[in-house]
Amino acid sequence: MKFFIDTANLKDIKEAQELGVLDGVTTNPSLMAKEDITGRNNILKHYVDICNLVTGDVSAEVIATEYDLMVKEGEELAELHDQIVVKLPTTRDGIRACKYFSDKGIRVNMTLVFSPGQALLCAKAGAAYCSPFIGRLDDISTDGLNLIEEIRLIYDNYGYETEILAASVRHTMHIVNCAKIGADVMTGPLSVILGLLKHPLTDLGLAQFLADYEKGNK
Ligand code: E4P
Repeated sequence: MKFFIDTANLKDIKEAQELGVLDGVTTNPSLMAKEDITGRNNILKHYVDICNLVTGDVSAEVIATEYDLMVKEGEELAELHDQIVVKLPTTRDGIRACKYFSDKGIRVNMTLVFSPGQALLCAKAGAAYCSPFIGRLDDISTDGLNLIEEIRLIYDNYGYETEILAASVRHTMHIVNCAKIGADVMTGPLSVILGLLKHPLTDLGLAQFLADYEKGNK
């Protein structure tokens, strides 16, 4: 399972990269705004800064919602760096733009996926990644993990190569359960990735080992 970090914060990205388990980065306009990255030039420069910090894919989301403008903006993003994956909303124009980019060999991450039907269209349009938002489904009393299972079944039925990128990950068990179900990728905040390490028996065991070492090596 690939691990992406879902942030535009360079410090968190660097920390995750240094941990040695990072495969890529996802951003979105809200995450960019959270870091006060505003103005087109600053936004484009920030994407390049992220690419220079990591070795994997970096999703950069288009703001345009109309096909022609999506294509223009996506091409500009793709030209920034060879690690850039163009992120498009799963709308009618987004699916059309996805097909345009995938035919040109430009990789696309289809975002805001909330149903198996949308995921099927993402695969048909040649998306590199399909991003179901599991946390936002859970927020409205719907089963986000069930959507991952449904998409896994559909993609396996037809051998689609589109990778299932579990997004809107809120806690460690989202990651563990996505891994059990067979999501190809998960993207989450650094705190959730580090949360996987937490176990009181690890802390207690380590404290005991160190105490016993001290006793014997005074
Ligand atoms: C994924 O690409 C999105 O940026 C992200 O996972 C959305 O997460 P949220 O629902 O916590 O905003």
